[in-house]
Amino acid sequence: MASGAPSAFGGTPVPGSGPDGAPAFDTSVAHIARVYNYWLGGKDNFAADRAAAEQAMAAYPDIAHSARANRAFLRRSVQFLAGDAGIRQFLDIGTGIPTANNTHEVAQGVAPETRVVYVDNDPVVLAHARALLTSSREGATAYIDADLRSPASILADAAKTLDFSQPVAIMLMAILQHLSDEDDPYAIVADLVDAIPPGSYLALSHPASDIEPEKLAELAKRLNKVMAQRTTVRSRDQVAWFCDGLELVEPGMVNVPHWRPGSAEEESSPAALWGGVALKS
Ligand SMILES: C[S@@+](CC[C@H](N)C(=O)[O-])C[C@H]1O[C@@H](n2cnc3c(N)ncnc32)[C@H](O)[C@@H]1O
Repeated sequence: MASGAPSAFGGTPVPGSGPDGAPAFDTSVAHIARVYNYWLGGKDNFAADRAAAEQAMAAYPDIAHSARANRAFLRRSVQFLAGDAGIRQFLDIGTGIPTANNTHEVAQGVAPETRVVYVDNDPVVLAHARALLTSSREGATAYIDADLRSPASILADAAKTLDFSQPVAIMLMAILQHLSDEDDPYAIVADLVDAIPPGSYLALSHPASDIEPEKLAELAKRLNKVMAQRTTVRSRDQVAWFCDGLELVEPGMVNVPHWRPGSAEEESSPAALWGGVALKS
């Protein structure tokens, strides 16, 4: 077993483990879910993930701040959606390894009846899925092991838990950078948005190519040499284009610490991610 691997799961049972307890997934190649977990200070990562994460940190030293600022943006946007916007259904694609303030915890903290469907294609996230399935009694949570590049299949599965005749918030937080231009990410997002009724929202964040551009370009280059998933950074205009036909709520598409910050400390965090929340009217 890779050094440092077993304790990484902190006692969480891993479905699909081999007979000797070894995880049934490849730990020799860095995966974004585990690299991101390392940046967030988590323990669910392996030597290859830590090496990739450190290489990225050498290119862009604020990446850990950026990851934390992204989580804070996720929390604030869910609070807004469940609170001011009255959304009771969430489709969170690219969930990540569970951490503090998972979408259902924040949303059900505002409205316990909220229903949340999580989607990710990483086996490690699947292994942790039970931590995401701790719904309030009034609400519901579900987990789908699926790839964002198959939106029709995600929507069909999600419809078992969500009512697509009622407003839904689609969350695409720090995932679209893992679709390359050849994947046609704009068509994929359009397919998802087509499936939700007026009164629904799209919330997204995306690493920037036009904030600290040299550092971010170097970060993507280094990750693309070692990580299983490709990373494509995009400009503010390219990220805003995902919300084409939708109405960005205030303050629009901004570096994530500036999206309705909860404190001066949150607002002053270094970060290089465009983020926004948009209404389908
Ligand atoms: C950087 S993490 C972001 C986690 C969380 N959304 C957040 O913002 O804190 C990206 C997540 O997207 C998942 N992911 C990447 N490409 C994906 C794809 N094509 N389909 C489904 N999930 C994907 C990864 O496995 C990882 O868990």
